[in-house]
Amino acid sequence: MTDTDQYAVKQEPYYRPVGDETELFEAAHAARMPVMLKGPTGCGKSRFVSWMAWRLQRPLVTVACNEDMTAADLVGRYLLDADGTRWQDGPLTLAARIGAICYLDEVVEARQDTTVVIHPLTDHRRVLPLEKKGELVEAHPDFHLVISYNPGYQNLMKDLKPSTKQRFGALHFDFPEAETEAEILVHEAGVDRTTAERLVQVGQRGRNLKGHGLDEGISTRLLVYAGQLIARGIAPGAACRMALVHPITDDPDLRDTLEAAVDTHFPD
Ligand SMILES: Nc1ncnc2c1ncn2[C@@H]1O[C@H](COP(=O)(O)OP(=O)(O)OP(=O)(O)O)[C@@H](O)[C@H]1O
Ligand SMILES: [Mg+2]
Repeated sequence: MTDTDQYAVKQEPYYRPVGDETELFEAAHAARMPVMLKGPTGCGKSRFVSWMAWRLQRPLVTVACNEDMTAADLVGRYLLDADGTRWQDGPLTLAARIGAICYLDEVVEARQDTTVVIHPLTDHRRVLPLEKKGELVEAHPDFHLVISYNPGYQNLMKDLKPSTKQRFGALHFDFPEAETEAEILVHEAGVDRTTAERLVQVGQRGRNLKGHGLDEGISTRLLVYAGQLIARGIAPGAACRMALVHPITDDPDLRDTLEAAVDTHFPD
């Protein structure tokens, strides 16, 4: 199996477009303009990227970034084996060689000195210098860099340098409108429309508490979880407590407020 096959998105992922993100992404992809997806956790950013990779018929290489990540984790390193040393491409190098969409998830988590390795790939040069190996990799014409980031977790210590930020066009994601979100829940969780609509209402109540003790609102992902429990026969109240209330707060007052919202929308 070649790398290109291994990273292909073989089946169409379910993604419900919520605005003009599809055409904007397609135009950015055609121009090979690096794209930044901004938005809260669990609102569909990763799902959107895999759907776009499927639509555009490009392999997708995803990297979950973290603060311990080094430049070598992205570009590659020499490994020791029985016959001596052998160069192993990192995921960014691999994506540049095979012409993949490279998705760096939660890129602010990486240290700034790690993030700068993407710079030469994101301007007209479209190259990646492998300094340790003494090779200059020219990106495949189809290579496209996409990063995600959640503005909610942003702080002064953890932000992208302006010189990194200004290499990207940005698409802003947010939770879908009620109708659309209910449609997503019906599809993803297998609940009926009425249950989906009620879950969305509980979700919206939780989102209104953002900034009033909650750092992040109840995500679409958590609403899907609640729906999946209900679809497996769990009583809605218990499902909502497990998936919507307890994961997001340890504060007894907030918990009571959210549980009251659950009881309002699922009285039975
Ligand atoms: N527009 C959408 N179409 C289909 N499913 C969606 C959509 N938005 C959200 N979802 C559902 O929400 C879940 C979470 O979405 P996803 O994993 O893409 O979130 P994310 O924005 O990447 O979150 P994170 O920042 O935490 O990685 C998906 O598994 C899917 O079930
Ligand atoms: Mg994601």
